[in-house]
Amino acid sequence: MLVIIASLILSLFVKSTQASCPKGFICKVEKDTFELLCNPAVDMLKLQTVGGLLTDVPPQTTRVKVKCFNRRVPVALTFANLSHVRELTLESVNVSASESNFFHGISNITHLVLRDLSLKRLEKGYFEGLTDVRSLTIEHLDELEYLHPDVLKPFSSLLSVAFRYIGSACNYLHYDDYSKMLGGIQSSDLHTVVLYAIHTSKHAETHLNIDNLFSRGTVGTSLKYLDLGHNNVEFFLGYPIKTLPSLEYLSLAENVILGSQFMTVFWVQLIGHRTLKTLDLSGMNSRAAATSGDILFRLTVDDDCSGAIRMTIGPQLQSISLNNSTLLAHSFTKSAPFCFFDIHGVLKYIDVAHAGCTTPITCSIGQVRALEYFNMQNLNTANMSTDLFSKMPNLKVLLMGRNNVGNIIENDARNSLFRNNSKLRVLDMAECQLTDIPPKELSNLRQLQHLNLSGNSLRLVNLQNLAKIRIINLSRNRLTTLAQDARALLDKMAAKRQVDLDLSGNPLQCVCNNTDFVTWTHVSKVKFLNMDDTRCFDENNTEHLLFRFDSKLLDHTCHTGSDSLNSPADSPWRYLRIVLPVVLVVIVAVTVACFGYMFRRKCYHPWNPTQLLKTTSDVQLS
Ligand SMILES: *[C@@H]1O[C@H](CO)[C@@H](O)[C@H](O)[C@H]1NC(C)=O
Ligand SMILES: *[C@@H]1O[C@H](CO)[C@@H](O)[C@H](O)[C@H]1NC(C)=O
Ligand SMILES: *[C@@H]1O[C@H](CO)[C@@H](O)[C@H](O)[C@H]1NC(C)=O
Ligand SMILES: *[C@@H]1O[C@H](CO)[C@@H](O)[C@H](O)[C@H]1NC(C)=O
Ligand SMILES: *[C@@H]1O[C@H](CO)[C@@H](O)[C@H](O)[C@H]1NC(C)=O
Ligand SMILES: *[C@@H]1O[C@H](CO)[C@@H](O)[C@H](O)[C@H]1NC(C)=O
Ligand SMILES: *[C@@H]1O[C@H](CO)[C@@H](O)[C@H](O)[C@H]1NC(C)=O
Ligand SMILES: *[C@@H]1O[C@H](CO)[C@@H](O)[C@H](O)[C@H]1NC(C)=O
Ligand SMILES: *[C@@H]1O[C@H](CO)[C@@H](O)[C@H](O)[C@H]1NC(C)=O
Ligand SMILES: *[C@@H]1O[C@H](CO)[C@@H](O)[C@H](O)[C@H]1NC(C)=O
Ligand SMILES: *[C@@H]1O[C@H](CO)[C@@H](O)[C@H](O)[C@H]1NC(C)=O
Repeated sequence: MLVIIASLILSLFVKSTQASCPKGFICKVEKDTFELLCNPAVDMLKLQTVGGLLTDVPPQTTRVKVKCFNRRVPVALTFANLSHVRELTLESVNVSASESNFFHGISNITHLVLRDLSLKRLEKGYFEGLTDVRSLTIEHLDELEYLHPDVLKPFSSLLSVAFRYIGSACNYLHYDDYSKMLGGIQSSDLHTVVLYAIHTSKHAETHLNIDNLFSRGTVGTSLKYLDLGHNNVEFFLGYPIKTLPSLEYLSLAENVILGSQFMTVFWVQLIGHRTLKTLDLSGMNSRAAATSGDILFRLTVDDDCSGAIRMTIGPQLQSISLNNSTLLAHSFTKSAPFCFFDIHGVLKYIDVAHAGCTTPITCSIGQVRALEYFNMQNLNTANMSTDLFSKMPNLKVLLMGRNNVGNIIENDARNSLFRNNSKLRVLDMAECQLTDIPPKELSNLRQLQHLNLSGNSLRLVNLQNLAKIRIINLSRNRLTTLAQDARALLDKMAAKRQVDLDLSGNPLQCVCNNTDFVTWTHVSKVKFLNMDDTRCFDENNTEHLLFRFDSKLLDHTCHTGSDSLNSPADSPWRYLRIVLPVVLVVIVAVTVACFGYMFRRKCYHPWNPTQLLKTTSDVQLS
């Protein structure tokens, strides 16, 4: 209660200093944004109405944001003279904006964001007068159940429209309602449409015909960017090649594709689309996948895609993401489901990380000679042909971590795996169950900068020829040391530029026959990463932090005697090691002094060092 009263008083104070802050709001200026926050105290007390007139926001504020914490508090807000404001965001406010003149007074905005409103209907006149709006974002309107076909008509210069997370509480809207609404758009320059998560899994509409969606009006003609992600779609129909002649980006990500056998023509058409540059098919999960266990892929090369359905890459298609998707494969049974064939030499990016199939299949790569990025991490594959990458001579990034391909690499005695990849800059072979890498396997990778070998069982690494290397991750292997030539190479490169090395999680040895290595880790210019997780084991298998281990002592101890490291600090041997030299010096000094005394009596002087030495030595010798 005290808090509430205090904040009420505070809000009164704030209000008195800012004349144009409407009743029940706290107003603040943040850079170019004028924020109106419903007073939390007002929210709590559920006072009758919040609002009033907003006018005269500071001239530098081109954005206005109205936000409440409690969506139920009715807000009655009107704007006046805000013609310099360009962006309006309404978030969690219960505006009674059904009055058609709500946006009057702020009608020169170019960006409008409506988020988390309890709006049920978007009627015809709702956006009346907002002729300048170029981008409209509508998010988290879970109660929306009606879209008037002409609701977007006022936006005559609209470039981008996004609906995300719509209608989850009601599911009354159909693709046809969106189609009508898109058909009502008068702008001829619209390039972006996002309809993401507009249908939940409760929705019965599981087929989406992209042609039908854009069958009305002219919007499809200019469209470049289309996101239809997360809509629980099981079948895509239509041929967007004709309906969307300028499309450059398409996302069908996170849908539930069931109908692949009927969709082959759709996929072939889509991949061959004349203008498409980026295709995001990630996270498409066939329902069947949910029940299937480990799925094995075999990845191979099929030069002319003779054994599979040829997917001819369109003349602009640069990027395909299939990551985290599970493809329905039963319909293809014996033959491989698809084979990318890039006759134009444009495809640069393929991401199939963590993809799967409902039955084991062979995936073939046809012509992909322009490819620069290939991510096949975590495919759960144990079988790929050793010439897989040989058709990718322009590859710069190859991520093949988390696959059980250790055997294939170990048995690649002819070093064919990377022989054609001299442009490679990043190579990820982490968690590949590697116990060994053939000595010359990496010797062609002269441009390699980043090598991840973490999480294998390597005892040895050969870094020969990696003249450009910058980051090497050798963590979590079985290394006990790094060989002299590897160290020399790293030092040579570290002299030119920063070289990062991660040796953490290895059973490194801090024992006598490894003193060189231990000393090297303390003096080398190489930058060691994860130092606090880099441990070494002494003769007794006792664990030490490598970088806190006293390498000088090790060096010293090991050079003194074979079993000296085993000696405790106060053992007679160690004692003697310190005392002996002193005794020797004393004996020599005494001898010299005695000779001096015999031949030159002058040296017998109270503060002559030889005299002092003589005295001490007398004490010691006696
Ligand atoms: C919004 O305010 C109106 C009163 O103006 C009220 O009837 C309605 O229930 C409120 N909406 C919500 C979601 O609470
Ligand atoms: C808007 O500006 C005009 C002219 O500057 C002024 O006459 C009018 O009173 C203003 N309206 C409001 C509501 O402040
Ligand atoms: C605001 O829009 C109106 C028409 O809607 C126009 O007459 C006026 O010039 C615009 N003002 C500014 C500052 O752009
Ligand atoms: C797929 O990978 C891209 C980056 O390449 C990432 O942004 C996206 O989140 C991934 N999608 C899924 C579903 O994992
Ligand atoms: C990939 O999909 C699985 C479910 O199939 C999900 O749990 C996981 O979070 C997704 N990963 C990413 C990066 O989206
Ligand atoms: C890989 O797959 C091919 C063809 O399916 C098969 O002949 C070969 O034995 C497989 N190799 C391994 C290691 O599983
Ligand atoms: C290596 O790539 C070139 C193209 O740069 C190609 O002509 C050659 O056949 C490839 N080598 C192998 C072994 O595939
Ligand atoms: C290995 O390192 C590369 C580069 O940092 C990274 O992209 C990759 O995800 C890592 N691999 C694993 C399995 O974490
Ligand atoms: C090396 O890989 C491990 C995972 O295996 C990761 O935790 C660590 O941060 C990586 N080190 C660097 C330097 O990226
Ligand atoms: C040191 O010698 C032991 C015993 O001969 C051997 O097992 C170990 O591998 C050697 N360590 C190094 C780093 O050479
Ligand atoms: C190794 O163990 C022996 C026997 O327990 C002990 O005498 C010696 O001090 C230990 N050495 C080190 C380096 O801890």
